[in-house]
Amino acid sequence: MIQNDLLCLILDLLKDDKLTLCRCCLVNQEFNHIASKLLYSEVVLNIRPSVIAFASSTSPRPRSRYEKFCDALLASASLPHNAPNVKILRIKGYADSLSEALLPAVKTFENLQTVEIMPDKSEDDLFTPILAELENRPSLVNLHVNSACMDETNAPLLTRIEGLRTLGLERPNRMILLLLLGWLGRLTSLRELHLTRDCGSITPGVLRSFVPFLANITAFSLGISYSITDADLFDFLAQLPCLETVKLRHYLPSSPVPPLKRLRSLTVCHDESEDDDVVDKLCAWVLRAITGAPIEHIRFCCDEYPTDAKAPRGFDVLVEHLSHENSDTLRALDLNGWLISAESVTLLFESCAGLEELVTALDPDGFAEFKRLVPTMKHLHTAEVRVCAPFIASAEDAAQILQSSEVLRRLTVNEWKIEGSWVSEEDGVRAPFTLVARERSSPPPPLSPPAFPAARPPPSLLPLLLAAAALPHAVLSARPRPSRLHCSDVLLLSAAALTVLD
Ligand SMILES: *[C@@H]1O[C@H](CO)[C@@H](O)[C@H](O)[C@H]1NC(C)=O
Repeated sequence: MIQNDLLCLILDLLKDDKLTLCRCCLVNQEFNHIASKLLYSEVVLNIRPSVIAFASSTSPRPRSRYEKFCDALLASASLPHNAPNVKILRIKGYADSLSEALLPAVKTFENLQTVEIMPDKSEDDLFTPILAELENRPSLVNLHVNSACMDETNAPLLTRIEGLRTLGLERPNRMILLLLLGWLGRLTSLRELHLTRDCGSITPGVLRSFVPFLANITAFSLGISYSITDADLFDFLAQLPCLETVKLRHYLPSSPVPPLKRLRSLTVCHDESEDDDVVDKLCAWVLRAITGAPIEHIRFCCDEYPTDAKAPRGFDVLVEHLSHENSDTLRALDLNGWLISAESVTLLFESCAGLEELVTALDPDGFAEFKRLVPTMKHLHTAEVRVCAPFIASAEDAAQILQSSEVLRRLTVNEWKIEGSWVSEEDGVRAPFTLVARERSSPPPPLSPPAFPAARPPPSLLPLLLAAAALPHAVLSARPRPSRLHCSDVLLLSAAALTVLD
């Protein structure tokens, strides 16, 4: 029999894998109890227009299958034994069809920690009683809302919510900005402020006025506001003494910026470009932003990028800088689909020994260098490389690279995505990888349990697996410092646990 605390640990590792958790509910009462706690911890209502049944102008519209599912979900989540487990509530899509069921349900979710109200469309007053209901909730610490909560009626109710650690406002309008300073003054526990998408109402003056209220902020995001210059923005950021994580939208020609001394994570969203000059400026901008900072994570987000070997090479300059200035701190470099040269791969891998994640594009020479150096990288657990046409990557290429490394667990080469997982053998847990190759173009699978050849290990192995489940670090220490436990590792462990109960 497995102890409950052990089971909690095992199932908790599966919390993003809803399908497996559902299956766990069927095992027995203990499994059901713990798995359903995890399943109900997050309630997501996302009604897309395509699932709404056709309206007819005369009769009331029949409810579609998904709408009925949402009704049922709210009803079962509101049951006395489930409601206290609901920690996260996310509302997206066409929220109108939730109107009747939502408020009574929210009333029962007494332990909500995170609420996201980001509908694409909703009736004006749908969220008014919900916001009023959320006012006195000591458990509520993370709140993300969009304009549905920012009109004349809702904004005053919204700004009465206190005790927040994280606040996200998508497309903040004038109405909310008028009330925001007063609200920030009351949010003394606030650590993260994310102002996203269209932030046109935020002028340099408004931005400056935030400074006195953001002394404790560690993470900040800002969307697009064309009236704010680089100088305004970085002046502002430099005045936030605790700031470590920043997500910005790059859209302006560069100007010198003051250094952000504590910055550890920078995400830059930018427009696509095939122009060397634009890319050089983008890189120069990023360089200035990170100079002197103990940067660990850099990510670029952009929907499209050039995909041939003649793509702009501006990112080599960034790699050179990181290799000289940030070799001790750098952990993740996500250049999205931007190209770097073979020399940059050499430089990066030889100097940034602590690198754990790399996403980039390479030419065939760069790929050869990547292949050669991967075995020397002692912490690189995730790599995603796109090798420029006309190169054709084979699954064997990818498999070979994965097997050449002791730590690499997730590798994507062009369309091949390969994940390593643990295999158990007679005398213990062994490291050789099983390879799960799939095409990258398909959407990520819902992490349903794959067929594991070793899903039923011999009985002698069970104590070891169970001990491993209780002490994840003990299992993983066989490899140097993998920083994430892979889902299929866990499936293997829980599969072993299931075998005992059978
Ligand atoms: C910063 O945090 C401290 C301690 O939690 C608090 O007393 C202070 O009011 C906060 N400052 C701001 C500007 O929120």
